[in-house]
Amino acid sequence: MHIAFFDSGAGGLTVLHEAIKKMPGEHYIYFGDSHNAPYGTKSREEIRELVFKAVDFLTAKGLKALVLACNTATSAAVAELREKYDFPIIGMEPAVKPAIENSREHKVLVCATDLTLKEEKLNNLVRNLNAGDKVDYLSLQKLVMFAENFEFDGQQVTAYLKEKLAQADWSKYDSIVLGCTHFIFFREQIRRFIPARIRILDGNEGTVNNLMTKIDIRNSPEKKEIQYYISGSRAAAGHFQRYLDYLAKTDTPKGQVW
Ligand code: DGL
Repeated sequence: MHIAFFDSGAGGLTVLHEAIKKMPGEHYIYFGDSHNAPYGTKSREEIRELVFKAVDFLTAKGLKALVLACNTATSAAVAELREKYDFPIIGMEPAVKPAIENSREHKVLVCATDLTLKEEKLNNLVRNLNAGDKVDYLSLQKLVMFAENFEFDGQQVTAYLKEKLAQADWSKYDSIVLGCTHFIFFREQIRRFIPARIRILDGNEGTVNNLMTKIDIRNSPEKKEIQYYISGSRAAAGHFQRYLDYLAKTDTPKGQVW
């Protein structure tokens, strides 16, 4: 039985990367719907249709759990997926809760895709935390396609981040939440354009911890081969692996706070 990770493209690899570190003995399947990326500019209905198609494909492979490693797909479809399937389905949630709990007099800037920012799921989360006046939003939608093109540090990325992040009045904030799995690839670049005291948070580790409470973990020390699919076909050799290699290269030492 496999643990499947699903995303609109390569973003979910940032979550898979965390999972492999904590559970190296599992059988993983990664499905990136890159031919249909980005999801964040699509309608909720379009996203739902794509997600259901992908999950039907994955289910046929025999799953012990599914990680919707995409905030946008989670916002649009997690409730309906849980009604339809009986294996554990773990969704993403922007790390607004820990950000709010640790911020005192300052506010939190939540960055996500266009769709995530306008969906009810995020609005409900903020409302339930009673944090409406403590949270501002910023879409960094274009980072999704930069990541799809394996472009993390080029001139266009730098110009985009510089322009977008200059729009925020940083004296108001003490943390920034990366509420899209593709954004994790740009953590270091984002760091360059915000004050050093601002903390950068994401939901990846929390998601993997959540997954670990829902499954029986295989206690095998050997590393297993990962099966990669891109929009329903086998991905070309190395296509997704190079993202994991990039993440391993840019990983932070344990315990370092972003
Ligand atoms: N990785 C997706 C997320 O976490 C990106 C969505 C997109 O394709 O726009 O939201």
